[in-house]
Amino acid sequence: MKEANKHTILILGGSGFLGNAIYKELCAYFRTFATYNTSHSQLEKNHHFFQYNFEEDDIYEILDIVKPTIIISALRGDFSKQVLLHQHLAEYVFSQKVKLLFLSSANVFDAYSKYPSYEEDKTLTNSVYGLFKIKIENLLLRLPKTQVAILRMPMVFGAQSPRIAEILQNIKENAPIEVFPNLIMNVTTDSKVTQQIHYIINRNKYGVFHLGSTDLVHHDEFIKEIVASFQLEKKALYKQVYTTNDDRYLAVLPKFNKLPKHLQLHSQDLLKELKM
Ligand SMILES: NC(=O)c1ccc[n+]([C@@H]2O[C@H](COP(=O)([O-])OP(=O)(O)OC[C@H]3O[C@@H](n4cnc5c(N)ncnc54)[C@H](OP(=O)(O)O)[C@@H]3O)[C@@H](O)[C@H]2O)c1
Repeated sequence: MKEANKHTILILGGSGFLGNAIYKELCAYFRTFATYNTSHSQLEKNHHFFQYNFEEDDIYEILDIVKPTIIISALRGDFSKQVLLHQHLAEYVFSQKVKLLFLSSANVFDAYSKYPSYEEDKTLTNSVYGLFKIKIENLLLRLPKTQVAILRMPMVFGAQSPRIAEILQNIKENAPIEVFPNLIMNVTTDSKVTQQIHYIINRNKYGVFHLGSTDLVHHDEFIKEIVASFQLEKKALYKQVYTTNDDRYLAVLPKFNKLPKHLQLHSQDLLKELKM
């Protein structure tokens, strides 16, 4: 732990669902700073948060003040401007010999519908979102390999997650919840992802990580299990969305760069966590 404490961490997107969960996990152990974009009275008072808009502001100013040894990228927003930002980050990472953790997505494999994907598989997409994540991954993969961790995640659920909030809101408003009966995927929680990131930092791990559950679920069945776990009196309505006739996989399974057992996750663990 002493060794790890020397780190100064900068989380880009620290006001977001995952960025904020990562901030809360790390701030007691490291000098941790973060950015937010939308004005937010509480974050404005927190001297560890900087207001930053990658469409307008230069990241170098914040890098100069914080001097991070680890940067965690947890942003959403305009794709081409994000690519440009990550080009600047890559230059900084290379010249300052620091490390970058990039939150990527199972969508980098969304063109491979017939199989789940492993860390060393070649990425292939037919979505604009997948293409943008691949572009950033590829520019980071050109950096010295010990300085980069690419964290590919499936759908993230958690008590505070926007996905669960949307499900509950739909039930409240008698609106249908969209389910994809042909979609086979793996899943994770914000609490598991933050523990995994903490471990990757402490143990100085690098490379491509698949941070999904070790098992696969059908999207429609899993969403229904989540809803059942809430034990609500009100009945949920569902809208079945068929994007293809055949089963389609969107799953990032760990195989070559596995984390220790206690940091792996089974989909049932997620349901148990939601029940608590
Ligand atoms: N959640 C998932 O299920 C999931 C699954 C796979 C991969 N991921 C990846 O994980 C990362 C984080 O996702 P999330 O769900 O936590 O997203 P989120 O809750 O929407 O957070 C996005 C963050 O980006 C910031 N942001 C948006 N536009 C910006 C701009 N123009 N300039 C600067 N900052 C800006 C937001 O700031 P403000 O809120 O202050 O505006 C917020 O901090 C993303 O890269 C996503 O692709 C997420």
